[in-house]
Amino acid sequence: MRKKVILVTGASGEVGHSLIKQLAQDGNNKILSLDLQPLPEELIGLTTHLEGNLLDHILLARIISQYEIDAIYHLAALLSTSSEFTPDTAHQVNVEGTLALLRWAADQSQWRRRPIQFIFPSSIAVYGMPESVHSKDLYQRVREWEWNQPRTMYGCNKLYCEMLGNYYSKHFRQLSAEAPIMLDFRAVRFPGLISAFTLPSGGTSDYAPEMIHAAAKGEAYASFVREDVRIPFMAMPDAARSLTMLAHAPREKLTRTVYNVRGFSLTAGQFKDRVLEAFPEAQISFRPDVKRQAIVDSWPADLDDSAARRDWNWQPEYDAGRAFAEYLIPNIKERYLRS
Ligand code: SER
Repeated sequence: MRKKVILVTGASGEVGHSLIKQLAQDGNNKILSLDLQPLPEELIGLTTHLEGNLLDHILLARIISQYEIDAIYHLAALLSTSSEFTPDTAHQVNVEGTLALLRWAADQSQWRRRPIQFIFPSSIAVYGMPESVHSKDLYQRVREWEWNQPRTMYGCNKLYCEMLGNYYSKHFRQLSAEAPIMLDFRAVRFPGLISAFTLPSGGTSDYAPEMIHAAAKGEAYASFVREDVRIPFMAMPDAARSLTMLAHAPREKLTRTVYNVRGFSLTAGQFKDRVLEAFPEAQISFRPDVKRQAIVDSWPADLDDSAARRDWNWQPEYDAGRAFAEYLIPNIKERYLRS
């Protein structure tokens, strides 16, 4: 008899860290996690962990033979800056890995005659504002179907995978005589994410988390973007919550497959001011890297999340004030005091 589980890929990464803790709070959830890396110590005991590559067909076959998967949170990905250095690898991991898992989930949905749920974190990187900083002032809160012209490999990968998810959940085998059972694909587009417990690697919104973690460690930090650049952010607990809220939303309420979510929008200068309130000695300067700056300039100043609010009652718990006062500052202070 196969064991029923929720599969989390990319489990050892930043979002996985928070999501697994959240999923594990419900004792009924049995979690199977997959990552190239070992599981971080804090997560041991919360999940059955497999170290391996998503592109390994034999590993996927072994998983199917042992587990019945009800839902997949597919978090594994290479972020935007890393993807620019190794675009071919980014395509392999971000697109081919996702495609392999979508096909597999589509087949399994048929086979067991019940949809597998596929939850996918997409990104603000799917947007590409025209190359004038003023376009960000003109089009402040971007809706899901606007400016889908990504500048990065990562953005292209995420946008295409959203479309593949839509295809596999609505049009797969559309010409076959027998009506197929479709998988249930749902996606959120995240803004820049900030965690108190982990640091991102290889993203282009990383200046914000790097600034606050450096201040807590007493290290000087030079931001790689200009002081006036603005994008939306979200505290990590809200990111994990948005994924599980979307997973639990009644299917008939959903009018889209892909939803924007956001917590708060700040310029890098405003972010610095908030960090200075908590760490008055912090040494923060701005030394923009023209190329990474251009990527952030192509991302909108804010996201319109009204569809998520309407369809599944999305509401962030952390605005900027609460994110800093109750989540980021106390936890980050404690983290570096201990180490
Ligand atoms: N945080 C991501 C990155 O910077 C964007 O989704 O790549």
